[in-house]
Amino acid sequence: MLKACTCRKFFLSLCLLFCFSFPCCVKSDELQVLLTLKSALNKSSTDVLDSWEAAGPVCSFNGVTCNGDGSVKEIQLSNQRLTGVLPLDSICQLQSLDKLSFGYNLLYGAITDDLNNCSKLQYLDLGNNLFSGSFPDISSLSELRFLHLNSSGISGPFPWNLLENMTNLTVLSIGDNPLDQTQFPSEILKLKKLNWLYLGNCSIEGKIPPAIGDLTELINLELQLNYLSGEIPSEIGNLHKLWQLELYGNELTGKLPVGLRNLTSLEYFDASNNNLEGDISEVKYLTNLVSLQLFENQFTGQVPPELGEFKKLVNLSLYTNMFTGSLPQKLGSWADFDFIDVSENLLSGPIPPDMCKKGTMRGLLMLQNRFTGEIPTTYANCASLKRFRVSNNSLSGRVPAGIWGLPQVDIIDIAYNQFEGPISSDIKNAKVVGILSAEYNRLSGELPEEISEATSLVRIELNNNQISGKFPRGIGKLKRLSNLQLQNNKLSGSIPESLGSCASISTINMANNSLSGKIPSSLGSLPTLNTLDLSRNELSGRIPESLSSLMLSLFDLSSNRLTGPVPQSFSIEAYNGSLAGNPGLCSSTIQSFKKCPPDSGMPKFVLMLIVCLAVAAILLATLGCFLYLRRTEKDGDRSLKEESWDVKSFHVLTFSEDEILDSIKQENLIGKGGSGNVYKVMLGNGVELAVKHLWNTDSHGRRKSRSSSPMLGRHSGKEKEFDAEVQTLSSIRHVNVVKLYCSITSEDSSLLVYEYLPNGSLWDRLHTSRKMELDWDTRYEIAVGAAKGLEYLHLGCDRPVIHRDVKSSNILLDEFLKPRIADFGLAKMVQANGGKDSTHVIAGTYGYIAPEYGYTYKVDEKSDVYSFGVVLMELVSGKRPIEPEFGDNNDIVSWICSKLKNQESVLSIVDHRIPVAFKEDAVKVLKIAILCTTKLPALRPTMRTVVQMLEEAEPYKLVGIVINKDGEVQKKDTMESADKLNL
Ligand SMILES: *[C@@H]1O[C@H](CO)[C@@H](O)[C@H](O)[C@H]1NC(C)=O
Ligand SMILES: *[C@@H]1O[C@H](CO)[C@@H](O)[C@H](O)[C@H]1NC(C)=O
Repeated sequence: MLKACTCRKFFLSLCLLFCFSFPCCVKSDELQVLLTLKSALNKSSTDVLDSWEAAGPVCSFNGVTCNGDGSVKEIQLSNQRLTGVLPLDSICQLQSLDKLSFGYNLLYGAITDDLNNCSKLQYLDLGNNLFSGSFPDISSLSELRFLHLNSSGISGPFPWNLLENMTNLTVLSIGDNPLDQTQFPSEILKLKKLNWLYLGNCSIEGKIPPAIGDLTELINLELQLNYLSGEIPSEIGNLHKLWQLELYGNELTGKLPVGLRNLTSLEYFDASNNNLEGDISEVKYLTNLVSLQLFENQFTGQVPPELGEFKKLVNLSLYTNMFTGSLPQKLGSWADFDFIDVSENLLSGPIPPDMCKKGTMRGLLMLQNRFTGEIPTTYANCASLKRFRVSNNSLSGRVPAGIWGLPQVDIIDIAYNQFEGPISSDIKNAKVVGILSAEYNRLSGELPEEISEATSLVRIELNNNQISGKFPRGIGKLKRLSNLQLQNNKLSGSIPESLGSCASISTINMANNSLSGKIPSSLGSLPTLNTLDLSRNELSGRIPESLSSLMLSLFDLSSNRLTGPVPQSFSIEAYNGSLAGNPGLCSSTIQSFKKCPPDSGMPKFVLMLIVCLAVAAILLATLGCFLYLRRTEKDGDRSLKEESWDVKSFHVLTFSEDEILDSIKQENLIGKGGSGNVYKVMLGNGVELAVKHLWNTDSHGRRKSRSSSPMLGRHSGKEKEFDAEVQTLSSIRHVNVVKLYCSITSEDSSLLVYEYLPNGSLWDRLHTSRKMELDWDTRYEIAVGAAKGLEYLHLGCDRPVIHRDVKSSNILLDEFLKPRIADFGLAKMVQANGGKDSTHVIAGTYGYIAPEYGYTYKVDEKSDVYSFGVVLMELVSGKRPIEPEFGDNNDIVSWICSKLKNQESVLSIVDHRIPVAFKEDAVKVLKIAILCTTKLPALRPTMRTVVQMLEEAEPYKLVGIVINKDGEVQKKDTMESADKLNL
């Protein structure tokens, strides 16, 4: 500092004339500039600026390059984790500066007009930062050759017109910025020296101008993720030097233009995700292609046979088109082939055998086609393979043994083919396989014991094969296993006790095999078991008492050889069907079973009591025999009118009880849930209603015993509570909550009559074949509406109504796509009924369940907030809560968490169908979603806060437009940095 000051004084007070002959003067000023720069930057994890000391000399500073006369020529500080506001007013005093490189840092604030003083700049890189505001005037930077501004955070209009005289520009990179929508900027077409043009993801609309063909120096042209429409101009074929052409994620139509064939230097071509059609024969001339991506278009015709001779090809993605014919057999045999995905086409013929010839292949995805023949044995040695998916074809023959044991494979998916032969013991080598999906084949032989060494397995789907022999004893080693589907095979022997050690399992289906022996009592200790189907086997012995503690939504032991008394908790009529076809079972309460012989160990008074109760029951039965007609136990299609019904209405009714009861029949069934079925009812007057038919259940979530009800009296305490709950719920009147018109209850079941919403659920709209394009405004409105509905349930009623099953399929959409919360409180009131066990009922749906369910069963409003956070994540990302791409045992919450590293990867979470202009709005909602899914319930916001935060995240298109001092329209606030998202 001292030296700088002295020098300055010298400069000021002595003589101007001498000044230029003392290089120290120039340098001292430059030293000042650099020290100002240093103090403006808070270096977080870098020591790159340590050498920047007040003593100078500047030319020895890290990242600083001087020219011959000792003045600063270049500052190169890219990728240094620098944060702070760039003091351009100061930096642009460096008179000789021709290179300024600050890319890949965490710089923020505005890029000010001072930049225009850096008039000697030839190289400017401010890309990959967190700047805000629009880009300034740079009209005097006419010597620029390199301009990198991609992903810099700038927004608003871009001064394209200022580029027109920068005729020496060779690299122009503006992409990944939320700029205002614009036509293709014609100014760029004058920059004849451009060889690198990156305009991806920056809101360009309209057609690609034919004059693009004049930029003949281009080697890279990236226009992806814009709103470009119309055809690809054939003039693009003039770009002989083109090495990379990226057009994906636009709205391009028509065929690949004739002329594309001239791009013989092209190595990377991606036109996926457009509306392109016709054949792709132009591609056959592009012999230097390394990567060809044309997925999600409407292409037809053959995959050109010439592709089989492409010597550099490593990546081929053609999925979701209408390609026909067979694949070239030498495909992928030349280079270090990496990846093929031709799924969802109409391709036939054999799988090309040599794609893993070089041992580098990671993905083989050919599902949903018409491929025939066997799996080439070459793939059995393809140790690099991570995904092997050929399901839904007509493949046959034996699966080569090594396929089962691929060491890197995480999905083996060969389902729905005609494969034969055994699953080999090689599977012990498949240490990372999570999904083994081979259902609906003709696999035979035994399940190898070694399957229990594939300890990453989450799903085993081998149903509908011919697998025989004993069940592997060591299955309990599969601690991550959640789904075991072995139904419709020929398994024999007993079910091993160790199955009860698969602590993550939720579904066990072994129906229709030849399993014998006892049901292991260990199954009763599986905490998350939800489905247990052991029907149609030869299981014998008693039903273990331990099973009573399970909370099952599907339970089926029918058609076995079970004997002895049905455990008390299953001794109710409702389980009749689940236990039918076991002639050796006895029950004192279910009439269709034979009576159990009196147990000699039973105390006398209990026997007395039973006798008394039996007498009472007979008396009651006699009294009520005309009122009581046996119901036929055809699920959901019973003669409901034979029961006595109690109607409670909460809105003025325009329909009668009979009208509803008449409509509860199979052809009106529109949905099935855990607690009952949903029917659509069309009344005579044209009004549509949705009727939920619920089984009344006791506190264990089981259907209520018919015989116990009369003894408890018509209005037991529990029933009163049920009524009270229905009363509470029916008093709810909120525009975002589904309207409950009335409840119609009998002793066995209840009908809840709701308004009918024609647009189905948010789940349907986002994820199923009934999917529709939801633009960001609509998604946002759905988020706010649903949040308000939930807020009302939590805070707007006499006492909080905890939903306990918030999920996108419980958010229904009306004709204007306005959301309404459905199924509120039902889990609680129906399953819990206020019993002591109520807090121990695990409600909710996998993927939405808050983590506290795992360690405490205490459920409160904050558990709903978590589930709502998951819904917000679905809205932002367009993904389901559980997707194979998240990896084994990961859900959307952990997936998103893993993506919060940098801005680019945060933006990649946002659904690609959301236009770029809205991505930052979506990121704001994502941030709220992340808060909602905080692990600790106490740290989650209340629904009231969620509503407030969502309102603040309103897309700028709706409000939040501000007019700046120059009269320009701007967005109110700018992108939250990815860093801040890292909570
Ligand atoms: C472009 O570069 C050439 C050669 O280096 C130079 O002579 C010319 O002045 C530059 N043009 C501009 C506009 O700076
Ligand atoms: C570009 O140069 C032309 C001719 O010198 C001039 O008229 C025009 O204003 C310049 N454009 C910009 C943006 O400076």
